[in-house]
Amino acid sequence: MPGKPYFVTTPIYYVNDVPHLGHAYTTVAADVLARWKRHRGFDAKLLTGTDEHGAKIAEAAAKNGKDPKSYVDEVSAEFKKNWELLRIQYDHFIRTTDTEHEETVKNFLQRIYNNGFVTEGIYEGLYCVGCEKFKSPDELIDGKCPDHGKAPEPYKEENYFFKLSKFADELIRRIESDEIEVRPLERKNEVLGKISQGLQDISISRAKLSWGIPLPFDSSHTTYVWVDALINYYTYGKPEGIWPADLHIVGKDILWFHSIIWPAMLIAIGEAPPKKIFAHGFFTIGGSKMSKTLGNVITPQELVDKFGVDGARYLLLSAFPFGADGDFDWTRLTEKYNADLANGIGNLHARLTRLAESSVGIVLGWDDELSEVRKFRDKYDAALERLDFYQALQVIRELISKGDKLVNEKKPWALAGEAQKKELQKLLNILFAIAHFANPFMPEASGKILGSLGIAEINEFKKVGKAILEVHKIENLFPRIE
Ligand code: MSP
Repeated sequence: MPGKPYFVTTPIYYVNDVPHLGHAYTTVAADVLARWKRHRGFDAKLLTGTDEHGAKIAEAAAKNGKDPKSYVDEVSAEFKKNWELLRIQYDHFIRTTDTEHEETVKNFLQRIYNNGFVTEGIYEGLYCVGCEKFKSPDELIDGKCPDHGKAPEPYKEENYFFKLSKFADELIRRIESDEIEVRPLERKNEVLGKISQGLQDISISRAKLSWGIPLPFDSSHTTYVWVDALINYYTYGKPEGIWPADLHIVGKDILWFHSIIWPAMLIAIGEAPPKKIFAHGFFTIGGSKMSKTLGNVITPQELVDKFGVDGARYLLLSAFPFGADGDFDWTRLTEKYNADLANGIGNLHARLTRLAESSVGIVLGWDDELSEVRKFRDKYDAALERLDFYQALQVIRELISKGDKLVNEKKPWALAGEAQKKELQKLLNILFAIAHFANPFMPEASGKILGSLGIAEINEFKKVGKAILEVHKIENLFPRIE
């Protein structure tokens, strides 16, 4: 494949707390996308990691009676464990306390400084430690940050500023023309609307906070945690030779940092900004935002314990369209699992393997498969191209219905000889396509389906283009859950 590898990132997560489903949501989505790209023959690199500096982390460490470094080591390891549990195939896990990252940040900031985009000034405002962000009065409800339920703290100190205001026209031009593609479209419009009201320079240093990376041009200040964090993508991507990032997947809460501040920082040092930023929505649990205080936090482990790894991955991305907000609760998740997985894929797979088990010599051809399911495949690929995971999974459900309908109509059990073989071959083609499409989402179940058809390695199969199937029954893929 020509060109550089496709470089996709997740946000790096704050280590003030252990991972929950919100974090898993973004990470699974990025993993599905990277796996799909790899299937399509591209080399894809997935970067994830943890955001470990700043006031919020320092406070969490103190609350836990730990020094910041040992605290962040522990929580960062939890994130890694959770991503392993969810079968996230990341290429690199970055930590902002890594030495290479700290060096890159210093170097990056020195370049911004040398290019004349840093000034000194006094910052006075209201700071929300939960958001790690200054808040303007219109962002508060009853004087409190709506996301953290706390009044932001008054803050005044001498800071270094990045001259963000200089980049407004350039950013408008690049975002409008999709040179920097901001998606979904309504988010692009929101961002453009906000820039057109003018951009203010942003404070990039902290004089009183020691838990951070010292500024290269004044070591009595540490780097503002967001500036430190955004640079993580470059720390990994640049030496790997895969810069610029093809896609940053982020939650809608952090789109501004990624679509405005980050591209401006890169332009300031003469580097290419990311090609695309996609902001997804939030999910709530039983109607409320997931939070420890409300006691409605679901951990990835809990979801996996109940639905298995594949079930968990599927449920995360099939609940509602990526980009929109949505709600789910345990009852709805269980219903969906039973409908789509136990009764859907699981049942069709069990039926077909039972029917075809004693048939010898059924041949599955990659070309036949393509002609039979081409329109599904085109729809599926187009959906993933626009990060519409929900629609891509809908294509799989359509194929399942097609399979179910065909078995009922053709009644292969009542046929014999070549006629039976022909019908079974068509049905197994559909099953194969389901396994193929499901693969990025549910790698284990997909592997089991292929294994039960006698296909050990999908890539090998694609290369050879044909396989003589050896169908055998295996245990239920998705047992029903009451
Ligand atoms: N550390 C910053 C990001 C720096 S990136 C250079 C940060 N971290 S975070 O831990 O608060 O989580 C960030 C991301 O987690 C959100 O942008 C979003 O992608 C995901 N989510 C956290 N809660 C979520 C939901 N309830 N629903 C969906 N995604 C959520 O911000």
